[in-house]
Amino acid sequence: MTTASAPGKIILFGEHAVVYGRPAIAVPVRQVRAQAAVEDLPGESPGRIRLEAPDIGRSLWLPQAGSDDPLARAVRLVLEALGMRDPRPVRVRVTSSIPVASGLGSGAAVTVAIVRALSAHWEHPLPDETVSELAYEVEKIHHGTPSGIDNTVIVHQRPVYFQRGRPIQSLTVAQPLHLVIAISDQPSPTAVAVARVREHWESDPQAAEADFDAIGRLVDQARRALEEGPAARLGPLMDENHALLARMGVSTPALDRLVDAARCAGAYGAKLSGGGLGGNIIAACDPSRAEAIERALLEAGATQTITTQVNP
Ligand code: PMV
Repeated sequence: MTTASAPGKIILFGEHAVVYGRPAIAVPVRQVRAQAAVEDLPGESPGRIRLEAPDIGRSLWLPQAGSDDPLARAVRLVLEALGMRDPRPVRVRVTSSIPVASGLGSGAAVTVAIVRALSAHWEHPLPDETVSELAYEVEKIHHGTPSGIDNTVIVHQRPVYFQRGRPIQSLTVAQPLHLVIAISDQPSPTAVAVARVREHWESDPQAAEADFDAIGRLVDQARRALEEGPAARLGPLMDENHALLARMGVSTPALDRLVDAARCAGAYGAKLSGGGLGGNIIAACDPSRAEAIERALLEAGATQTITTQVNP
């Protein structure tokens, strides 16, 4: 059996504006992971591939899956990349502790785990760049114009400063950054949120571009704050980034409530993270406040909290 796993991720700063060419910062979340396990199916004919995702009650043969099925798309892309038509028959079993539709990169992590496990099992492990490109192709199923930040941070498993079309830059934090992530009770429909920002841009391109520029400036300030410390400097930048996202129409009363709860419980700052309209919010804090913040977030309606740390 060959296994591979990939972490979740959060976007620290710059979501949505990143689709329009501005930079963004994302970090892996190692407390949650997707895993793929591949094993041979002796007795089956060459080319037979069974897909199993028990968490979501799925079990099918590859040809039964439609072209917009992300698991099947990942497998088909691996076959294409390796130029294989009738490989050794296998079962691919996917499990994940990453909350789905929560802005934590569950889709990209599942794809990365499948691509790595399958290509390694067939003795042709693909390089990171190719794994990232294939994961990007699958992301297109979720919304047509992904920036590429999810696949990039999940493949590289380290903090990234990302700008579309440019080589990725890694980023080293000056001191540990403590984050509390709260999952709201609404899923994040990334495609709908991206379409909403697109409407904002189409109805008033100048105003939208100004918002994207403002977010881009925050990302650069945040990068300096991360690289120099102290972490508390990030708080006001997160608050401003949240306000801009809310103006662009991708926050909700439930997300605003969570952000307020985290701030009242002593976070340096808080913001929605990822597509918005549901999904998660993140709060940066001193580690001594993390527990109180988690309690406040659960009281304010979060369904789950995850604490994570970005280390130097
Ligand atoms: O909801 P998520 O975490 O998949 O993030 C979407 C991030 C956006 O910037 C809104 C879209 C993108 O492709 O970067």
